Amino acid sequence: MDAIDVIVTKREGRELSSEQIAWVVDAYTRGEVADEQMSALAMAILLNGMGRREIGRWTEAMIRSGARMDWSGLDRPTTDKHSTGGVGDKITLPLAPLVAACGAYVPQLSGRGLGHTGGTLDKLESIPGWRASLSNDEMLAVLRRAGAVVCAAGDGLAPADKKLYALRDVTGTVESIPLIASSIMSKKIAEGTGALVLDVKVGSGAFMKNVETARELARTMVDLGTDHGVTTVALLTAMDRPLGLTVGNALEVAEAVEVLAGGGPSDVVELTVLLAREMLAAAGVSGKDPADALKDGSAMDAWRRMIGAQGGDPDAGLPTAAETTQVTAPSSGVLAALDAYQVGLAAWRLGAGRARKEDAVSFGAGITLHAKPGDVVREGQPLLTLHADDPSRFDRALEALTGAYTVSDAPAPLLPLVIDRVT
Ligand code: URA
Repeated sequence: MDAIDVIVTKREGRELSSEQIAWVVDAYTRGEVADEQMSALAMAILLNGMGRREIGRWTEAMIRSGARMDWSGLDRPTTDKHSTGGVGDKITLPLAPLVAACGAYVPQLSGRGLGHTGGTLDKLESIPGWRASLSNDEMLAVLRRAGAVVCAAGDGLAPADKKLYALRDVTGTVESIPLIASSIMSKKIAEGTGALVLDVKVGSGAFMKNVETARELARTMVDLGTDHGVTTVALLTAMDRPLGLTVGNALEVAEAVEVLAGGGPSDVVELTVLLAREMLAAAGVSGKDPADALKDGSAMDAWRRMIGAQGGDPDAGLPTAAETTQVTAPSSGVLAALDAYQVGLAAWRLGAGRARKEDAVSFGAGITLHAKPGDVVREGQPLLTLHADDPSRFDRALEALTGAYTVSDAPAPLLPLVIDRVT
């Protein structure tokens, strides 16, 4: 087999054979196919697409490039959620312990943020002592003790994706539905979960800017999960405005803890409960309703056990940024829009995110929202508080927010929180 043949097949818009796919993914993982060859192939896939059979084979080859975890020895079903990423999306934090408190195991391998979207591991690392890297044995021990574990994927899990994703990131080949779907699903299938709920975000702050492409991505991922024996459901949810009232690592942890204590912003609570119900139903677990587990303290107990089992102190104070500044309403009226992408970009510029994989994040940096689209505001009232360790970051963050919010006489149309469900 030869890399040029594979590239030319896809460049000419023809279907790759199972043998070509198995060979090229394996040879790339071993270093026999060079980065420049794989980037040409990724571009041909982006431009010419892949059929369902090809996507399935491609995903299979990425799973086979590493280990597949196995939780069949556990005494309860496993279930997980994956979000395609957004601004203020801290849902995993209350969701994983909540689902554990309702009777399923949640073995979640998660990621760090890159660009304007946050990463779950960065958020949790703002808790003093908390460790993201666990061995498989440690992961199992945390699962048994707390019912939920959220940690980093080891190098042995879908290594082909690790290499390919880094390459796509620098070759303009991220925005391909076959490549995104196979990248996400190879990791989730290799993680070994029995059931999976996908939260496919739609809007300016998401990968998928419109409902049609989000639906196509959801459909592709649900089919891949189902074909691999994982009960998979997808919700399409709004990311035209930030989720909740905080964007930034420690700020979002504090908001997640409010939700676990029975409070928190209504959109975060609603989505957390909805996703928890979906995760439990997909795993075939019935019994306690997630809304009750948020009220009776059992979800908070599971959170404390989960954080403690990974070395974190759930009672420790969270880091705060040294400096703050406020954005105020320019006039009185209704806050008609608050653009998710621009808020995410501003939080990133404040230090909440990283420009390169090896950069450190500022745990206290980010943005607090004092109003959400649809709220009535008065001229001069605070709309946003910006948090940063270094005040020289405020100017560029404020620049990112130019035109991000409008105050008018009437509310503007917003996407519904839950747009669609794909099974
Ligand atoms: N997240 C992933 O893991 N892979 C992609 O390709 C895009 C988002």
